[in-house]
Amino acid sequence: MARSLLALAKTLCFILHVQSCTCGEAEIIGGKKVKAHSLPHMALLYNSEEEPRCGGTLLSSTWVLTAAHCFKYKIDTVRLGVVTIKNSKTDGFVQARKVARQYQHPCYNADTNIHDLWLLKLSQAVEETTAIKYLPLANTISDPKEGTICMVAGWGLVKVDIKEMSDDLMSADVTVIKRETCNLTKYNNTGYTITSDMVCAGTVEENQVVRDTCQGDSGGPLMCNGEQVGITSFGIGCANRTKPGVYAFLSKQHIDWINGKIKNESYSEECATQ
Ligand SMILES: *[C@@H]1O[C@H](CO)[C@@H](O)[C@H](O)[C@H]1NC(C)=O
Ligand SMILES: *[C@@H]1O[C@H](CO)[C@@H](O)[C@H](O)[C@H]1NC(C)=O
Ligand SMILES: *[C@@H]1O[C@H](CO)[C@@H](O)[C@H](O)[C@H]1NC(C)=O
Ligand SMILES: *[C@@H]1O[C@H](CO)[C@@H](O)[C@H](O)[C@H]1NC(C)=O
Repeated sequence: MARSLLALAKTLCFILHVQSCTCGEAEIIGGKKVKAHSLPHMALLYNSEEEPRCGGTLLSSTWVLTAAHCFKYKIDTVRLGVVTIKNSKTDGFVQARKVARQYQHPCYNADTNIHDLWLLKLSQAVEETTAIKYLPLANTISDPKEGTICMVAGWGLVKVDIKEMSDDLMSADVTVIKRETCNLTKYNNTGYTITSDMVCAGTVEENQVVRDTCQGDSGGPLMCNGEQVGITSFGIGCANRTKPGVYAFLSKQHIDWINGKIKNESYSEECATQ
């Protein structure tokens, strides 16, 4: 499986721009405030200046899954159980951990944003509480069908023109868009290609407020029917109907790498030359 996907990836010859050019971090646009502690697996990732930069998911007591491109922010601390950024350092529900070790997916490519996965091993175990829960991945996750309503969440920007993280955790419903559609020229003016390791989701109804992830939401989960199916990865700008959000899909290959790493940190995977 891994091999055939890699072979496919190789032949696609991506000339993608992504993340780097526009929507560096994602924000939830058109969403609503999340009830305190109702997404107890949400992680908030901070850089060395103590600034929040990305989201993530707590998979187990010591592992957090996020996006590989968040690496550029020099993430060094993870906070769990956060409700508002303002109170994240004083809130008694919050557990903060240093990042002890980190692993980018060996096949991650910053130019194409393929395999945008990053695993953080925490310095010390996080305890489960009413505010904090682990969300282990399933062994296989089926490809979400076109039209599936999924949820995204994060502390990213809530307005495209206000470059500031949201104090509150926000969430929004987005609809899965077929890869072939998302890959069409109409959706691809900035030149990226959607692969089988990515999922597109956005706002499909003409008469509804546009919902999307944006800067600061990167690394957070795409949840479909209560299960994590993807990781917020990139987009061309934010909240443009013809530029839906793109998520790293937790394909069999990705799950095998994550679960392999969690079992044995020396586990690796061979990549096709990029
Ligand atoms: C996306 O478009 C590229 C370039 O036309 C093509 O090689 C690739 O197979 C397409 N992918 C999907 C999932 O449609
Ligand atoms: C997307 O844009 C890239 C770069 O311009 C191009 O190579 C690719 O063929 C386009 N994909 C589709 C499906 O048009
Ligand atoms: C959406 O993207 C298209 C293509 O890049 C652009 O022409 C259009 O102005 C954008 N719309 C909004 C609302 O930003
Ligand atoms: C962990 O993986 C490495 C590399 O594949 C292997 O050499 C080692 O034997 C494994 N350790 C355990 C305990 O499975």
